[in-house]
Amino acid sequence: MGTTEVDFEGPVGASMAEFSDEYMTYVEGHLDEDLAHVPDRILAILRSMESLTQGFVIDQLQHSLQTATRAERGGADLDMIVASLCHDIGKTLSNANHPAIAAEMIRPWVSPEAYWVVKVHQDFQGKHYYARMGLDPMMRSKHKDNPAFALAAQFADEWDQTAFDPDYDTLPLAHFEPMVREVFSRKPRRGN
Ligand SMILES: [Fe+2]
Repeated sequence: MGTTEVDFEGPVGASMAEFSDEYMTYVEGHLDEDLAHVPDRILAILRSMESLTQGFVIDQLQHSLQTATRAERGGADLDMIVASLCHDIGKTLSNANHPAIAAEMIRPWVSPEAYWVVKVHQDFQGKHYYARMGLDPMMRSKHKDNPAFALAAQFADEWDQTAFDPDYDTLPLAHFEPMVREVFSRKPRRGN
């Protein structure tokens, strides 16, 4: 059990060191086929956030949708709208490090600016609650020289920290689905 049939003609090998060039080409073809499922996987992760409430009045799917709705209405570009929708998907694994988890998950498909905003969003969000935790509310100042500083500030101040309002006219996931499909159907980029 746990093995799958492969239609590759020839010896496969049991370790990566033994794989032939022909077999590696075959595997890479399958990796590309697998990418077709990424938009559905992102949508499934977002839907799963409905069960993530964390003590807030609205669940984390609604928080994500409301952040993306505010971003769209605030004039964000496609990458930033989708990044806003996905900025907290790291919470499906862990609240600790969730910005970095989410940022790396979306990184191959979104603009470098959108990736960075998600990665550092807690440093910017801190302005609105870090003082109550004895932390520096202006943690964001360490990023002051980044060209996307103003975008990250707008994301945190206008779109994310405000997105806990149960009475806000939040757009449904169906509205964002074509955007998710467009962005996550791009050819993924490798970044270091
Ligand atoms: Fe958030």
